[in-house]
Amino acid sequence: MPDIPRSAGTRHRPSILVTGATGNLGREVVDRLHAHGARVRCLVRRRTGPHPGAESVVGDLTDPTAVRAALVGIDAVFLLWPLLASAPAHDLVTELSAAAPRVVYLSSTAIDDAAARQSDPIVQVHADMEALLHEAGLRPVVLRSDTLASNARGWAAQLRAGDVVAGPDMARTAVVDERDVADAAAGALLAHHGHPDHGPYLLTGPEVLSRADQVASLSAALGRRLRFEALPAELARSRMLADGRPPQLVEALIAASERRPPSHRTTDHVERLAGRPAGTFARWASDHAVEFERAPD
Ligand SMILES: NC(=O)c1ccc[n+]([C@@H]2O[C@H](COP(=O)([O-])OP(=O)(O)OC[C@H]3O[C@@H](n4cnc5c(N)ncnc54)[C@H](OP(=O)(O)O)[C@@H]3O)[C@@H](O)[C@H]2O)c1
Repeated sequence: MPDIPRSAGTRHRPSILVTGATGNLGREVVDRLHAHGARVRCLVRRRTGPHPGAESVVGDLTDPTAVRAALVGIDAVFLLWPLLASAPAHDLVTELSAAAPRVVYLSSTAIDDAAARQSDPIVQVHADMEALLHEAGLRPVVLRSDTLASNARGWAAQLRAGDVVAGPDMARTAVVDERDVADAAAGALLAHHGHPDHGPYLLTGPEVLSRADQVASLSAALGRRLRFEALPAELARSRMLADGRPPQLVEALIAASERRPPSHRTTDHVERLAGRPAGTFARWASDHAVEFERAPD
């Protein structure tokens, strides 16, 4: 976490609503906001408060009544949109417009601003969400994140059982540590490094990696010989469905695997918002190695 002084004395303690607070990224954002002395409220779908000390409002992002209740007295919102369509966001955007907090929206670096349609449904949703928020006059701070390192947790079951990660391949991108994205988000929400402009900020890690490169980093961190096996679409689809993943998500992931172009871009935007450079995936792998250790026989 960057060395940011806590709010103190008579200074206003900002009240911040965090969506997706039980997820890989949201949890990290909540931790940082707490550490910096903000009042934190979480919109959660189940009442198992993600963080002691954080207030929770139970409800779905698509439920305008819950969203309205969650927005009372809020200065800024960390907004995720984990759904695979943007149409259900209209009520949310109406509620945001009425409450008028500062909105920090977590989008995707895969957006191509010059394209009429995006490469795949996941990226299209982010482009549509950015447009909705802008059209509503919310002037969001847009943080476009590259592939989160924490996606690798999806490989944990395979690596606890064996030495092969098999799945759909994805084009190379500058995988970014979710803790760095969370620091950048906290920086934007709390405006500790001055009020950020509206972006879009492109939050990347320091190096462009393939899935096989990521598995090689895990291999080094775990001291085991691991390998990545790219599955053809049909096999990847049937395995993901057999694992119980929702069919719409499976199709979106297959489309991303087949159509999302590689990215060659790394930026210093994490540093601009967080006050320090982004870390490597190798660091992430070393910090999280225990999650991938083989189950004892
Ligand atoms: N992963 C990436 O590489 C990447 C890259 C760019 C942008 N993003 C964006 O970042 C987001 C967060 O990523 P992540 O890895 O932290 O995801 P995650 O671990 O899957 O967490 C998703 C969070 O959203 C909540 N959620 C899902 N549907 C909801 C709904 N209908 N109403 C309210 N809350 C809901 C989940 O709550 P429950 O605990 O109730 O399920 C969970 O807290 C993604 O959804 C995506 O929009 C991700």
